[in-house]
Amino acid sequence: MEVVNIILADRSYPITIAHDQLTKPTTYAALPSAAAALIVTNTTVAPLYADALRSALAPRYPQVHMVVLPDGEEHKTWQTLNLIFDALLQHGCDRKTVLFALGGGVIGDMTGFAAACYMRGVPFVQVPTTLLAQVDSSVGGKTAINHPLGKNMIGAFYQPRMVVCDLATLDTLPARELSAGLAEVIKYGPIADMELFAWLEANMDVLLARERGALAHAVKRSCQIKAAVVGADEREAGLRAILNFGHTFGHAIEAGMGYGAWLHGEGVGAGMVMAAELSARLGLVEAAFVQRLTQLIARAGLPTRGPIIDAADNAGRYLELMRVDKKAEGGEIRFVLIDGPGKAVVRPAPDALVREVIDHCCAG
Ligand code: NAD
Ligand code: GLY
Repeated sequence: MEVVNIILADRSYPITIAHDQLTKPTTYAALPSAAAALIVTNTTVAPLYADALRSALAPRYPQVHMVVLPDGEEHKTWQTLNLIFDALLQHGCDRKTVLFALGGGVIGDMTGFAAACYMRGVPFVQVPTTLLAQVDSSVGGKTAINHPLGKNMIGAFYQPRMVVCDLATLDTLPARELSAGLAEVIKYGPIADMELFAWLEANMDVLLARERGALAHAVKRSCQIKAAVVGADEREAGLRAILNFGHTFGHAIEAGMGYGAWLHGEGVGAGMVMAAELSARLGLVEAAFVQRLTQLIARAGLPTRGPIIDAADNAGRYLELMRVDKKAEGGEIRFVLIDGPGKAVVRPAPDALVREVIDHCCAG
C-alpha cells in the first residue's frame, strides 16, 4: 500500500492507494466511531461495490445506511443533493454520522458538500472509484454542485477524513471514463512536473491497457503533486488555481454543451490545448510544446478540439461562459497559462487574442 498525506494541521488526512482495500474492515479502523454511517453512491456504482463497502463498514458502525442517487453530471444539482439530506433525516442520523462517498467525482463533490452542511458539518470519507476522482477530485476538499449558469458554482471547502483509492475499482471503468481521468493526470505535467509528463509519453499505452503498476504510479504521483499544492494553499488564495489548467475553457464547454454531454475530463482535454495555445500566442511557451501536449492528449483518447457551442458567435459564447468562472475577478477572466513547460502562471489575456484561440481551436 502507498500512502500520501495531506498536511493541513488538524484537518490532515491520509490517501491510501492499493488494490482490493475497499472490502477490508481494517481500511477504516482509524476513522471516528459513530452509531451510523451513510454510504452515498449512484445507480451505476451501487451494484458493483456498495455491498462490499457495507460489509466492510459493518464491524465498525452498528447501522450502515445507503442512499443511491441518479447517475450523471446533469444530476449534480440541489434536487439530488437534497436526497442525501432526506436520507440523513429519515434515518435520524446524528452529528457523528460518517458519510462515505462511493463513486466518481460527481458523488464525491456532492457528498462532501452534504457533509459540510448537515448539522453544520459531519465527517466524511472519499472512496473514489474513477481514475479522475482518485487523481484529483477526492483530494483537497473542494465540494460543490452545478448551477445552470456555471459549473461547480455552489459549494464549500471541506476536507474528508480519509481517501481510499482502491485501484481494483478501475477494472470496471468504461474506456471513455478512463481517458477522462487521464486528462487530470496529464494536467499535472505542464503545471508542475515535466518528469511525469515524459513518463506519461512513455507509458500512455500501458495506462490505457490498465497495467496495475502504471495506474498505481499515475495515482500516487498525481496525489503527491496535489497534496503539495493543497498543503500550501488550501482555499485557493493563489497557487491552487494552477490545478485548474484547461478548466476555464473546459467548464465553458461543459456548461455550454449541457452538463453530461462532454465529460469533465474531455472538456479539460480540449481546454488544455486552448490554454496552451493561448500561452504560446502570449509568448510564454514554444509552439512545439503545444504540439507535444496536443499529441499526448490525443493518445489518451481525448478530444483536442473544442466544440462549437454557438453557431452565431462561438467565441462570444465561450467568453460569456468563462466570465462566470470562479477565478474571474470583476468580470475579467483569469487563465491558467503555461509559463515554460512545468510552470504555470494565472493571468488575464486580451479578449481579442482569446477569440483568435477559440476560433483556431474549435471544430467546424
Ligand atoms: P462521474 O462521477 O460522473 O463518474 C463517471 C461515470 O463512471 C459515472 O457514470 C459513474 O457512475 C461511473 N463509475 C464510477 N466508478 C465506476 C467504476 N468503478 N466502474 C464503472 N463505472 C463507474 O465523473 P468523474 O469523471 O469521476 O468526476 C467528474 C466530476 O468531478 C465533475 O463534476 C467535476 O466537476 C468534478 N471534479 C471535482 C474536482 C474537485 O477538486 N472537487 C476536481 C476535478 C473534477
Ligand atoms: N481540481 C482543482 C482543485 O482541486 O483545486
